[in-house]
Amino acid sequence: MTRIFSGIQPSGRPTIGNYIGAMKQWVELQKDNSDSQLIFSIVNLHAITARQNPEELKERTLDMVAWLLAMGIDPTRSNTKIMVQSTVPAHSELAWILDNYTTIGELNRMTQFKDKSAGQKPEGLLVGIYNYPVLMAADILLYSTDIVPVGDDQMQHIELTRDIASRFNNLYGEVFVVPRGQIVQEGSRIMNLQDPTKKMSKSSDNQMSFVLLEDSAELIHKKLSKAVTDQYGEVRYDPDRQPAISNLIDIYRGFEGDLSIEAIEKRYVDIGYGQFKQDLAVLVIDKLSDLQNRYQSFRAGHEMLIRVVDEGKEYCQKIAEQKIEQVKQVVGLV
Ligand code: TYM
Repeated sequence: MTRIFSGIQPSGRPTIGNYIGAMKQWVELQKDNSDSQLIFSIVNLHAITARQNPEELKERTLDMVAWLLAMGIDPTRSNTKIMVQSTVPAHSELAWILDNYTTIGELNRMTQFKDKSAGQKPEGLLVGIYNYPVLMAADILLYSTDIVPVGDDQMQHIELTRDIASRFNNLYGEVFVVPRGQIVQEGSRIMNLQDPTKKMSKSSDNQMSFVLLEDSAELIHKKLSKAVTDQYGEVRYDPDRQPAISNLIDIYRGFEGDLSIEAIEKRYVDIGYGQFKQDLAVLVIDKLSDLQNRYQSFRAGHEMLIRVVDEGKEYCQKIAEQKIEQVKQVVGLV
């Protein structure tokens, strides 16, 4: 049985980057792998590495459960579960243990940490931000995960997870499965609409730089119409020379996968960026309005959402407890 695990933070609202790079992949994996175990985690312990309003954090955790259900993640399948990270204490417990098999040198090399801490004095940085990848390794290794479907920005963390797992196994025998990261071919890194050299991120201060799954039709239209392009005036997929328009093509393909890049380029020969962006907005609005309707109806079912979280907890606790016991035993912890 293949085991698939991935996670998303309930900080901020999901963007079309989260959707195209990760969440859509999760739904497809569920379709293709009827005999696999799939666990999707709302990683609220990771979210507190940035200050959160407690009430909002709780609400956003349930929001995220509703988005996953709206997309088609189906926890009524016996081997698919949605879990909230903080409900299974073994995540934190294993993270502490793995801290002792991870070096400061390794964590210093993490580009996400470097980005987040850029321009700040190390003395004032939170240890949680630094340690973030070790908790992520614990999430993955607890469930003997084979495949971790993520966006490109998480691949370095998965490489670190592999190194930690191998190091641990070399000392104690085959305790952990060494996982492999999986990214989508196109769209694994959806870029900022105002600056195509940066990743699209829900935590960006510039509201025009991202599209949220919950954005209204007017807002989506505005954001996509105002997305930066370039001076070439040709709808062509060339991420090095034309990163902005290539990013918009990735977004187009993220919502209309049946149309190849060539077909899109052909369709827009001699037609300007303006029309392409209008069509893109119509497409995204159409696809998201469907998703938003489903989201609203799941989000209204508070008790059902709590039940999904409780079932996820129960299912995951059994697996995680076995693994943490095994780890404690080999390390010599009573
Ligand atoms: P998070 O919450 O930042 O993002 C969730 C997923 O969305 C992907 N993603 C993107 N993909 C393409 N283009 C973008 N612009 C974009 N922005 C985000 C991310 O790569 C991710 O797959 N550390 C993780 C959460 C996590 C996790 C785990 C993931 C915690 N434990 C264990 C996998 C396995 C994170 O912060 O994701």
